[in-house]
Amino acid sequence: MLHTISDGVYCVHADIQTKDLFEGIWPVARGVSLNCYLVRGEKTALIDLVRDWTDAPGQLEAKLSELGLSFADIDYLILNHLEPDHTGWLREFFRVNTRAEILATPKGIKLVRSFYGITERLKELRDGDSLDLGKGRILRFIETPNIHWPETMVTYDEASGTLFSCDAFGAFGALGDKVFDDQLSAEEHAFFEEETLRYYSNIIASFSSFVEKGIQKIRETVPVINCVAPSHGPVWRKDPNAIIKRYLDYAAYARGKTEKEICVIWGSMYGNTKAGVDAVIRGIEAEGVPYTAYRVPDEDVSYVLAGAYKSAGLVIAMPTYEYAVFPPMAYVLDIFRRKHISGKTVLRIGSWGWAGGAKKEYEGTLEKLSWTSMEALEWPGFPDGETLALLEARGRELARRVQSL
Ligand code: FEO
Repeated sequence: MLHTISDGVYCVHADIQTKDLFEGIWPVARGVSLNCYLVRGEKTALIDLVRDWTDAPGQLEAKLSELGLSFADIDYLILNHLEPDHTGWLREFFRVNTRAEILATPKGIKLVRSFYGITERLKELRDGDSLDLGKGRILRFIETPNIHWPETMVTYDEASGTLFSCDAFGAFGALGDKVFDDQLSAEEHAFFEEETLRYYSNIIASFSSFVEKGIQKIRETVPVINCVAPSHGPVWRKDPNAIIKRYLDYAAYARGKTEKEICVIWGSMYGNTKAGVDAVIRGIEAEGVPYTAYRVPDEDVSYVLAGAYKSAGLVIAMPTYEYAVFPPMAYVLDIFRRKHISGKTVLRIGSWGWAGGAKKEYEGTLEKLSWTSMEALEWPGFPDGETLALLEARGRELARRVQSL
């Protein structure tokens, strides 16, 4: 079904339901949408494209046909961002449509050439440029580098006040036939809030300073935003400020302005470390601080990242494995380093069997993460009563520290 944002402005999206991983890394068990937008004046512009993924081009084609259009009728293809989830089908589009101009920032046009070998019908857009589609329909382009790649821009429709923001304000999760924020139930809003945090922490978090700069620039540049139309997830026409605020909150997490919550990340081979985790959690619960818990490797790092990114406190609980860090935790810590999960207050605990050794490798990893570490607690085999009492006390202390931040 086609979704009308305003007269002549439409959301045409493809829902992707797949076991494939997004970016080859992140699971999308509950789907992901690839949103494109059609804007009509005398000329017709398509904003962003799709990759050939679970017949996304076919889904788009079906929606265009509801307006009596086909890909061949597009006059301008505007590419806000060149990551292949939005451009993978470009070569085929270029073959089907023999006249449309492709518009992108200069860096974007370079990627059109290098990714797809397309060298004709290209137009470079400068920051602040506009495109007159006729019938009073003017699109304005604003560079927003690094949300998500350096070439990224957003497009603004002056007549309707719609901001086509590409990855900014995006979320994982398939849309189905409900595209707009005002169509979603409270339960569906909760679903997309979770999937927005996961998307942000997985894809955008490393670029949080650019998110803050980009939002400020957009607010200074466009007079009014009536609708936020991202390239993934719901379109915010009733309350566009809700998703803008959510993104600003998430960007602030990267500066340490996190939630007073604790994320417990744990792995256990034979239950000895788990017994310690249970004791720490008893301490956290006694102080009444909210927490989430993720067992690795059972839970994908995508979800662990989301829980850790928003939380002021972390518990890292793992056994020593062959004189070193439990391998699934080593992977989590490496992802944390790459995604700049910094500024946390952290308690590390864990058991060892015939010898320790995780400490040395773990502390080497810490050098790259600006964490505040509490005194760690390790024990041989199963934790005895005294150790369990100490672990519970450490859980309480971590909770109190988080509360006092
Ligand atoms: Fe949705 Fe960075 O691509």
